[in-house]
Amino acid sequence: MFFRVIFIFNCAAKAGLSLNISDSCPSMCKCAPEEVIHCNRAGLRALPGEIAASTVSLNLSNNYLRILTTNTFRNLTFLHSLWLDGNNLTFLSPGTFHALGKLRELDLSRNTRLTYLHANTFRGLLNLISLDLSHCNIFEIHPLLFSHLPSLESLNLASNNMRYVPQAFSNLSSLTRLSLESNHIEAIGRDSLKDLESLYDLNLRKNRIWIIQNGAFTKLLRLGVLNLGHNFIADLPNQLFDGLIQVKTMHLEANRITDIGCTFRLLLNLRNLYLNNNQISSISDSAFSYLNKLHFLHLSKNNLSSLPLRLFVELPKLKYVFLSHNPWKCDCKMFWFLRWTAMFRGALEGLDCAFPSQHNTTALSVPHPMDCTVPPELESKDKCGAAGTSMAPGPPAPTSKVFLLVVTCHTWYFARRWDSSVAMF
Ligand SMILES: *[C@@H]1O[C@H](CO)[C@@H](O)[C@H](O)[C@H]1NC(C)=O
Ligand SMILES: *[C@@H]1O[C@H](CO)[C@@H](O)[C@H](O)[C@H]1NC(C)=O
Ligand SMILES: *[C@@H]1O[C@H](CO)[C@@H](O)[C@H](O)[C@H]1NC(C)=O
Ligand SMILES: *[C@@H]1O[C@H](CO)[C@@H](O)[C@H](O)[C@H]1NC(C)=O
Ligand SMILES: *[C@@H]1O[C@H](CO)[C@@H](O)[C@H](O)[C@H]1NC(C)=O
Ligand SMILES: *[C@@H]1O[C@H](CO)[C@@H](O)[C@H](O)[C@H]1NC(C)=O
Ligand SMILES: *[C@@H]1O[C@H](CO)[C@@H](O)[C@H](O)[C@H]1NC(C)=O
Repeated sequence: MFFRVIFIFNCAAKAGLSLNISDSCPSMCKCAPEEVIHCNRAGLRALPGEIAASTVSLNLSNNYLRILTTNTFRNLTFLHSLWLDGNNLTFLSPGTFHALGKLRELDLSRNTRLTYLHANTFRGLLNLISLDLSHCNIFEIHPLLFSHLPSLESLNLASNNMRYVPQAFSNLSSLTRLSLESNHIEAIGRDSLKDLESLYDLNLRKNRIWIIQNGAFTKLLRLGVLNLGHNFIADLPNQLFDGLIQVKTMHLEANRITDIGCTFRLLLNLRNLYLNNNQISSISDSAFSYLNKLHFLHLSKNNLSSLPLRLFVELPKLKYVFLSHNPWKCDCKMFWFLRWTAMFRGALEGLDCAFPSQHNTTALSVPHPMDCTVPPELESKDKCGAAGTSMAPGPPAPTSKVFLLVVTCHTWYFARRWDSSVAMF
């Protein structure tokens, strides 16, 4: 059967019959090469009839298409890529794409009248890898909408009207990228994301998130990038990020965070941490313990007046630290910091009092050295520990008592820690 079809096709082609594919290029479109049809900005209100069934790529961007029916794409069974962005789509009939079993990429973005998608809208798209639904006005998604998309790897739902994380993500086990940026989501439930076991990049930036249930991220064992920037997050409970063992980049900038406790303690692969533009006034002294890969730390635009002793001392990979726009008090509590900066090989920005020029230290607003006694915090224990887990390395072995020996030297102070880690200073 298969061979017979090929045979007939060949005969027809040789005889120069009606199989000249270029002939079927709609007049308002460009077809080059033949299977790639560009009908973008062609003023189309409906799909042109003459589109060849062999078409592989069809660009219908920026037209006036309004309704797609089950017949619209029925014959285009070879289609790999379909762009329908920037149209006036209001309704996608259930089964619109059912013949497009080879489609890999579908762009429906910028259809601002698209508000609701029926459960069977995407039925048949068994090989779809990338789906763009950004910049529409979707406010509700049927729980089974994506259950027909077993191959989906990238889903963009940015800039819509969603107020909650839809239930519809339950069968997307191949999904690696998900954007829900610029919606109106307020909460992340414990089960909202639980089936997204392949997810690498999760973008929740610019929502109104203020509640995240503990355990919301525990199943995201492959997540590498988590963007929670520009939300209303105020609390960071210690268990919040449990499970994110692979996360490399965490965005928490522009939230309402006031304290950093032990929330980051198990993020052993964290390299970039954005905490700028919050209201952080206190950081636990072991907040960043075990973050052996931390490379980039952004703490600008907070409410920090000092940093706890040794906060950065055991971060071997730290290269960039941003500290500007904080109400720093360069007093005794920050002695450790002055000496740490002398050893630090990376770039440090924004804590000016730590950088007096060599011959002029009058800018230093430190108190008289005799006022500096050993602050009680020096003896504090690692508050984070590795509580309840066996994955984190143990806290550093307790060191001997700490002595602070203060010497005046052109109002420059040297304090010395008399223990095994003297070399760090
Ligand atoms: C196919 O179409 C092209 C361009 O329209 C034309 O130049 C060519 O002669 C046609 N070939 C046949 C066999 O009709
Ligand atoms: C489709 O057309 C739009 C212009 O309307 C263009 O910006 C876009 O790059 C095209 N897409 C592809 C894949 O060629
Ligand atoms: C689809 O192809 C059939 C023949 O196989 C044809 O009769 C029909 O008009 C085509 N439909 C569209 C929408 O092109
Ligand atoms: C888009 O569709 C709506 C009806 O759904 C219509 O009122 C409007 O004129 C259309 N806009 C364009 C540019 O075609
Ligand atoms: C998820 O997919 C499985 C098969 O892979 C199917 O049995 C199940 O019904 C689907 N669940 C939903 C909610 O669609
Ligand atoms: C900044 O921190 C101080 C305590 O260090 C607190 O009294 C003040 O209210 C904080 N300001 C803001 C805007 O959070
Ligand atoms: C030392 O710094 C102060 C304030 O920054 C400045 O006014 C003064 O001229 C400087 N003195 C010298 C000797 O550079």
